[in-house]
Amino acid sequence: MRIAMIGTGYVGLVSGACFSEFGTDVVCVDKDAGKIDRLKRGEIPIYEPGLDQLVAKNVKAGRLSFTTDLAEGVAGCDAVFIAVGTPSRRGDGHADLSYVFAAAEEVATAVDGPTVLVTKSTVPVGTGRKVKEIVDRVRGGGDIEVASNPEFLREGSAIEDFMRPDRVVIGADTDEARETLRALYRPLYLNETPILFTALETAELIKYAANAFLAMKITFINEVADLCEKVGADVQQVARGIGLDGRIGGKFLHAGPGYGGSCFPKDTLALVRTAQEAAAPIRIVETVVEVNEARKRRMAEKVVAHCGGSVEGLTIGVLGLTFKPNTDDMRDAPSLAIVPALQQGGATLRAYDPEGMAEARRLLDGVTWCQDTYEAIEGADCLVIITEWNAFRNLDLERVRGLMKRPRIVDLRNIYKPEDMAEQGFDYLSVGRPA
Ligand code: UGA
Repeated sequence: MRIAMIGTGYVGLVSGACFSEFGTDVVCVDKDAGKIDRLKRGEIPIYEPGLDQLVAKNVKAGRLSFTTDLAEGVAGCDAVFIAVGTPSRRGDGHADLSYVFAAAEEVATAVDGPTVLVTKSTVPVGTGRKVKEIVDRVRGGGDIEVASNPEFLREGSAIEDFMRPDRVVIGADTDEARETLRALYRPLYLNETPILFTALETAELIKYAANAFLAMKITFINEVADLCEKVGADVQQVARGIGLDGRIGGKFLHAGPGYGGSCFPKDTLALVRTAQEAAAPIRIVETVVEVNEARKRRMAEKVVAHCGGSVEGLTIGVLGLTFKPNTDDMRDAPSLAIVPALQQGGATLRAYDPEGMAEARRLLDGVTWCQDTYEAIEGADCLVIITEWNAFRNLDLERVRGLMKRPRIVDLRNIYKPEDMAEQGFDYLSVGRPA
């Protein structure tokens, strides 16, 4: 089989590389000539564990290639995937679909025969129908089938998520479209992955409902963590205690500084808008969005309180800036709310992140950027752990104490045990656990 992937962003590149690993011929298409040149040279524009080797291996095997020429890319394809961005539109929170529609129009103009046009980008309910209208208008007939195939990849473990998904969701109206996608995902039958065939609208909504539910789970446990702090309970034990109930499940119950990233904030907001417009508001998700935004800002107040009510004139070391580990992605990262708030409070910030520094420098001003973990800790009156990178999980605590002006730590990801930290002489504060 041969497919084209339009858009070599995160989703397009990972999905393209993984499909080629399954033996499909994949052409990745992008308008950005610089990016395509870099990919051709084997340079991967994002940080994702294992992606560089996967791309190199499949390029070498002749199954994966890159081009800026859409017509060349889509020629003779069994399926063409649209994996372009759908950012939040400024002002109203709706997903901006202009890139998706432009790609659909271009593909419809360029393809040389019947194919299936599959939307992989996260798009609001109803988008698949609009894509169908566009392609039918351009081609003056119905030789292009449309389908929706949302992705459930997590940054940092995207390859594993693609290769061993909990499920694959395919929204399609016709047997031709269903059969083409069934054939593409055949390698997953080996792991007995459930493949759900639904209508277009249902597939589109599954994606938003899944992300909103996960965001809700995180927000729930975050608020329970706040309650734990007031009543002397331990949120990690509460999470385990409820998570062992199979109906609840233990995943996505880690309390922290609030969810960030390129998906949850954007998708929850888009679902809220869609639901309001359909006169079926999902108020629980509206609240999740509000609570999470407020939480990121409140994390700075937590640090200030731990420093005795003011950070004026203090030096604060920050470990971790990306929205989660194993990515260089800074989009909607809690650090973007916490760092400026501490600066406004009069603190001097020293920061280090294993992969996010280049992007962080672009987004944050006035920070002293450090080369490694221990440099960021030097002379600090307080150390704040914002992202739970593995490299921060086993710090040389004696060295840390020796480097700090005061042995004070705020651990927003609960990567250390309060009793160990007390034993080491740290004034330690975490999330939802007794000191
Ligand atoms: C998320 C979903 O997990 C994927 O299934 C989905 O495909 C993707 O969005 C998407 O729509 O493209 P991702 O944003 O990469 O993936 O990252 P997650 O691992 O889900 O984490 C999101 C945020 O929630 C992070 O800020 C993370 O720190 C936070 N989080 C996660 C918690 O605070 N607690 C948890 O228990 C889990």
